[in-house]
Amino acid sequence: MLSYILVLLSALIVSATAAVHHLFVGNLSPPFSIHALEFDDQAVTLKKTKTLPAAGTHPWITFDRTKSNVYGASFSNASVASYSVLDHSTLRLDASINSTDNCDNRTAAYVQSSSHPPYHVYTGSWPGPQACGQALSTYRNGTLKEVIQTWTYKNDSGIHGLALGPGDRILYSADLNGDAVWAHGAGTRWGGDDRAMAVKGMFNMPKKGKHPRHLVAHPNGEVLHVVMEAGNEIVELEVDRRGVPVKETGTWSLIPPTTKNTSDYWSAEVKYSHNHRYLWATARARQNSTNTGFITVFALGRDGRVEDPLARVPTTTTGGIANAVAPAPWGDEWVAMADVPKGYVQIWKLGRTNEENHGNELARKEDRLGKKWNGTFTATAVARVDIADGGCCANIIWYD
Ligand SMILES: *[C@@H]1O[C@H](CO)[C@@H](O)[C@H](O)[C@H]1NC(C)=O
Ligand SMILES: *[C@@H]1O[C@H](CO)[C@@H](O)[C@H](O)[C@H]1NC(C)=O
Ligand SMILES: *[C@@H]1O[C@H](CO)[C@@H](O)[C@H](O)[C@H]1NC(C)=O
Ligand SMILES: *[C@@H]1O[C@H](CO)[C@@H](O)[C@H](O)[C@H]1NC(C)=O
Ligand SMILES: *[C@@H]1O[C@H](CO)[C@@H](O)[C@H](O)[C@H]1NC(C)=O
Ligand SMILES: *[C@@H]1O[C@H](CO)[C@@H](O)[C@H](O)[C@H]1NC(C)=O
Ligand SMILES: *[C@@H]1O[C@H](CO)[C@@H](O)[C@H](O)[C@H]1NC(C)=O
Ligand SMILES: *[C@@H]1O[C@H](CO)[C@@H](O)[C@H](O)[C@H]1NC(C)=O
Repeated sequence: MLSYILVLLSALIVSATAAVHHLFVGNLSPPFSIHALEFDDQAVTLKKTKTLPAAGTHPWITFDRTKSNVYGASFSNASVASYSVLDHSTLRLDASINSTDNCDNRTAAYVQSSSHPPYHVYTGSWPGPQACGQALSTYRNGTLKEVIQTWTYKNDSGIHGLALGPGDRILYSADLNGDAVWAHGAGTRWGGDDRAMAVKGMFNMPKKGKHPRHLVAHPNGEVLHVVMEAGNEIVELEVDRRGVPVKETGTWSLIPPTTKNTSDYWSAEVKYSHNHRYLWATARARQNSTNTGFITVFALGRDGRVEDPLARVPTTTTGGIANAVAPAPWGDEWVAMADVPKGYVQIWKLGRTNEENHGNELARKEDRLGKKWNGTFTATAVARVDIADGGCCANIIWYD
């Protein structure tokens, strides 16, 4: 017993002071691979430890609530893959569930797992038209079991991103092609049938053609933040007490106001930092341009609303067709970011401006233009690993 406690204690101490973090990143294009990475936050080094076989190309991968399974939405075929996590750098393919009914023969751009019973997993189909949504059940061990429900959106819909509201009671869908955000009732608390998902509301984005791509739902249940692919901005939406978006309460540009042609950019990602102190977002430059993308950090208030735009800095490449940011689960200041087809994963850190990094030049310039950007902060790329296999790197998930 004592030795067991000692082992447990030492394991806890190790994990509390651990400087090495493990990550996985999927391939957006062939070859069918998922890579295991290691980031040392003391040495500030990132390296690839393994390349694992995948069931297809995965524009999005995600963990289940206990990080004992990884689910992969597939672009290469109409299925959702289920892997078990054997250790911090090993995955084993357990199941590949074909999409059915409304989603028959439809690929998915995103997969969202839930952390509340009944632990369903959701996908949305992209590209459109006539996008579908799909709910899959899981076994007790988290392995995907079967498709239990599918539904349709609008004729012109194409669903690119999903998010769950507080308690996993509402599923939000970013309808890129349909310029809308949908709210579906999810889980048991919506009464009656455990399995049924029903539309609770649809919010038409005020401006057409701005293309909501991905979104996040603040756990306080008051606001959503949506990244607009063509609009190159973050839109804040207020939700009513049922969780349905009802009003736009703010927009913030992800590209400099001096940009002559906004179609040179197509924004990609929005994510909350681990403790919801910051909102991280990215814009990509068109692939064959000489422009770079941008990474932007906002400070959030206690109410979950954007309070202070902190920094917007150019990325080192266009961002390709990814530029996905993945905030670290161990520090609000750190994110991982990916570029495909350049094929790299990079670690970024939010910090104070100083003489060495010459301050946040863009913030300063925009201060002069009368925009309220906080020039005290900047974000810096601190580590990078190249995985130039032609298909890497889509989105990144942090194991620890
Ligand atoms: C998708 O790929 C997996 C793994 O190769 C395979 O098992 C499955 O049958 C494929 N599904 C479709 C719809 O092609
Ligand atoms: C999944 O779909 C593929 C392609 O249509 C088919 O070959 C395979 O048998 C299907 N798998 C199952 C389990 O139905
Ligand atoms: C499946 O979808 C692909 C791409 O949209 C299409 O080319 C193919 O004909 C479809 N197959 C079936 C059986 O519907
Ligand atoms: C999870 O449980 C199911 C049902 O008992 C089983 O078929 C499957 O093989 C299990 N998965 C793993 C990875 O052990
Ligand atoms: C949606 O598409 C279906 C099938 O193509 C068609 O029957 C229906 O009229 C369309 N609805 C609208 C509103 O365009
Ligand atoms: C703006 O950029 C897009 C994409 O790079 C290009 O297709 C378009 O012609 C440009 N428009 C102008 C007015 O330069
Ligand atoms: C970019 O340029 C490469 C090489 O010239 C070409 O193969 C590719 O199709 C271009 N991609 C786009 C999106 O224009
Ligand atoms: C920038 O942010 C810091 C820390 O939140 C704050 O103390 C400072 O007042 C802000 N500066 C401006 C100009 O808003």
